[in-house]
Amino acid sequence: MNKENTIKKTFLTGDRPTGKLHLGHYVGSLNTRVEMQNSGLYNPFIMIADMQALTDNAKNPEKIRKNLREVALDYLSVGINPEKSVIFIQSRVPELCEMTMYFSNLVTLSRLQRNPTIKQEIKLRGFEKSIPVGFLTYPISQAADILAFDTDVVPVGEDQLPMVEQTQEIVQSFNATYGNLFKNPVAVVPSAKSRRRLLGLDGKKMSKSANNAIYLSDTTEVLRTKVMSMYTDPNHIHVEDKGQVDGNMVFTYLDVFGSDKAKIKEMKEHYKAGGLGDVTVKKYLLQVLEELLTPIRERRKYYEQHINLVDKILIDGSNKAQAIATNTLKRIRKAIGVEYFDN
Ligand code: TRP
Repeated sequence: MNKENTIKKTFLTGDRPTGKLHLGHYVGSLNTRVEMQNSGLYNPFIMIADMQALTDNAKNPEKIRKNLREVALDYLSVGINPEKSVIFIQSRVPELCEMTMYFSNLVTLSRLQRNPTIKQEIKLRGFEKSIPVGFLTYPISQAADILAFDTDVVPVGEDQLPMVEQTQEIVQSFNATYGNLFKNPVAVVPSAKSRRRLLGLDGKKMSKSANNAIYLSDTTEVLRTKVMSMYTDPNHIHVEDKGQVDGNMVFTYLDVFGSDKAKIKEMKEHYKAGGLGDVTVKKYLLQVLEELLTPIRERRKYYEQHINLVDKILIDGSNKAQAIATNTLKRIRKAIGVEYFDN
């Protein structure tokens, strides 16, 4: 098919700038974005969700400020290309807030309280006794993020499915109330379970507080230390012992990141039969991850040395995003009837 003649679809996704991005983000989402971007079949929008990050960090804005450029650097370093993708900052598109206001009238409190991701996050943050309003309602604001750009596809992690569902309900309600304006966005999540939820170095849920993640910006030395500390088979003590590959993080990571499937299969057989040491397998994983991270580190270094360019990319991207959101907002106002003067 001639790509020039096909109508491109829009995809939109984003991240809260609350920390550096890690390998879990990479396999769960970043690499899909880069592939989709490079396919030439999409108009990509990638948003740094700083306002959403404030919904549970209101008292700690410095954290968001500090991580905003980190996340931008992570994007650029994995190959999100500002010539092909619009990279923008949520708070630089205030039109999203007005949209959120109109959409809030179409969503009930009980519906927000039923959102499984929100429920889980409330527990995690100890918000049970007093939930910030902005936090409870961020799914509505996320619907605005998605709908402002006529998004077709939302590539995200599994935990974001309830947000896309909420968006679809807003589309349905808006269209039924004010006339057909929005199309229904669909979510795409990685098909492999191990990619949807990459476990941490210790085999537990990956999280910043558990200190069990490999960051895209980790140096060779840090990477080596982390790989060497990975959880394997606790009963595999001597090289000649028979080992377990299931639940062994080194093999889990090799399955996700390694491309030489035949070699990995052979190593697994060898490990199971006994005679293959953990250090040998870890060294191989280290080599695989180094191959992945080296070009990423190089691009990061370039942008770190040209931080003004990063700022320009964010400003230009935000301006482009704002122009589109302004146009959508006009259509929304017209549909609702709060556009009083022709100008
Ligand atoms: N909620 C997403 C996260 O925590 C970030 C986000 C904000 C987002 N707006 C979005 C993702 C719109 C997809 C589409 O990672």
